[in-house]
Amino acid sequence: MNFESYILPHIWNLKPYSSARDEFKGNEGVFLDANENPIGSATEESWNRYPDPLQYDIKTILADIKHCPIDQIFLGNGSDEAIDLLIRMTCQPGQHEIIICPPTYGMYEVSASINNISLQRINLTLDYQLDVAGIQSAINQNTRLIFLCSPNNPTGNKLNRSAIYEVLQSFQTGFVVIDEAYIDFSDEPSFISELKAYPQLIVLQTLSKAYGLASLRLGMAYAAPKLIQLFNKIKPPYNIGGATQKIVLEALQNKEFVKKSVELIKIEKENLILKLASQKDIIQIFPSEANFVLIKFNQAQELFDYLISQKVITRNRTNVSLCEGSIRITIGLPDENAYLLKKISDFYA
Ligand SMILES: Cc1ncc(COP(=O)(O)O)c(C=O)c1O
Repeated sequence: MNFESYILPHIWNLKPYSSARDEFKGNEGVFLDANENPIGSATEESWNRYPDPLQYDIKTILADIKHCPIDQIFLGNGSDEAIDLLIRMTCQPGQHEIIICPPTYGMYEVSASINNISLQRINLTLDYQLDVAGIQSAINQNTRLIFLCSPNNPTGNKLNRSAIYEVLQSFQTGFVVIDEAYIDFSDEPSFISELKAYPQLIVLQTLSKAYGLASLRLGMAYAAPKLIQLFNKIKPPYNIGGATQKIVLEALQNKEFVKKSVELIKIEKENLILKLASQKDIIQIFPSEANFVLIKFNQAQELFDYLISQKVITRNRTNVSLCEGSIRITIGLPDENAYLLKKISDFYA
């Protein structure tokens, strides 16, 4: 793939910001280069030095976990940052287009709107799978990005792998993004292993879900080294703070926590689904490979309002096309799920 053809020329030719820390590698020395405070910090722990702009230590561990070379990893302030940077490096307002497959994660559309980029929406089919023929006929010479999300938010299901391959095979004049935010809850293998075969592929993952680090903000984009270099060129120089880097390094060692929390969430999800299956006012419980489940209820809006009044906060998707009458419920702790079940049966009593 000739990357240069699909990247905006001003980004391809950009001379990036050169940070003070780019000029000297090493921790020992008298650092008078970055206008930092030499005394320390207004906190107990010291944060007075700028962090590693390329987060080498984190990437070294991730490379090992994901079986992927360091130069194919970009770290963002949440995967939302990677989505925004990708749009900014590939799409010119008034010219280029993005394809999304609703119902799906809302930030693809919001990020496109912020950047003033046109969208084509090719809805998922009624069973929430890709309409491959629809995507293929929407592709034109101005299409730069196709966003696919698997397991998909808010529907919870994985997209059929063969359909994803069909999209990858039919679109090589721009980039295909596969958002795997929920992959840790699924038995489906990641598409990271396909990066060599498909240079136009970008895989997004995040530490916000299975690793339990939503507040820290760390998302990953895995892609061809040439594309990763572009991400690094246009990102804010220190996009991942020192505190985040320190805690993430610790979290990546704790495989046991991830394993246990995924196990518990899966068990709780099955339990919730089983108990709800006997609730007669439920129209459909959609299959889920994520840490949430989409459920179609009778009187969904009223139920949602009632749950809020009982301080049980769920995600109302009743106004989302193809999710009419549905509420998305994140799997909570066992007593939280039990409380939710009780409140649902109180509402329908
Ligand atoms: C599909 C999907 N992608 C990305 C994100 C955002 O992840 P992050 O917290 O890393 O920005 C979410 C958050 O809910 C999501 O559902």
